[in-house]
Amino acid sequence: MKGVLFDLDGVITDTAQLHFKAWSAVAKNDLDISLPANFENDLKGISRTDSINRILDFAGKADQFSSAEIETMLDKKNTYYLKEMDKLDNNDIFPGITNLLDQLKQAGILLSIASASKNAPAVLTKIGLIDKFDAIADPSKVAHGKPAPDIFIEAARKINLDPHECIGLEDAAAGVQSIKSANAIAVGIGNSSVLSKADKVVPSTDYLSLSLLENVYNSVK
Ligand code: G6P
Ligand code: MG
Repeated sequence: MKGVLFDLDGVITDTAQLHFKAWSAVAKNDLDISLPANFENDLKGISRTDSINRILDFAGKADQFSSAEIETMLDKKNTYYLKEMDKLDNNDIFPGITNLLDQLKQAGILLSIASASKNAPAVLTKIGLIDKFDAIADPSKVAHGKPAPDIFIEAARKINLDPHECIGLEDAAAGVQSIKSANAIAVGIGNSSVLSKADKVVPSTDYLSLSLLENVYNSVK
């Protein structure tokens, strides 16, 4: 294992929940619908535009809005998200993550971010972890969002590695699919039935360690 490719939202900090709160507010105000709690899993990992399209489908309102109206909804969602995101600090880092990053760094393993979020650098700055990563893949530079492999391939490329030399960490089914399609090894964090395509699933970030990741890597290779 030469590199670890990290998803951000829901892996490093609890911003997955903030994204869903922001979408729920847009759905309520602009579409007059409530998003059911389990819809959060469908939105995890996918881009802003893919998310609004899924929500419009769910509302039965696809094709009812002009692209300018959709653009306004996307702006509202991001404004709401940024307001919540601004409250984050280093207390919002998930348990065990800082330790894991330090262990990996000490072992000479390269660390790269493979997030679909255009806000990833801002979130990492807020929680004080931006300097711990060797690279951040830019989602606006890849052709296809998760579940396509592009962002994990780009995250590996930015640390000069082939994806098969890396483990990818994900909380989203679309993200696990993206890691596997990139030909990296997938460790899921969360519910094992949602993340069933991962090579290994742990219930939360406290379970992550250098030795766990090395064991997974060596057992799959
Ligand atoms: C992550 C989150 C998604 C979010 C996407 C785009 O993948 O899991 O919920 O839609 O990033 O985020 P952005 O901050 O660019 O709207
Ligand atoms: Mg995520």
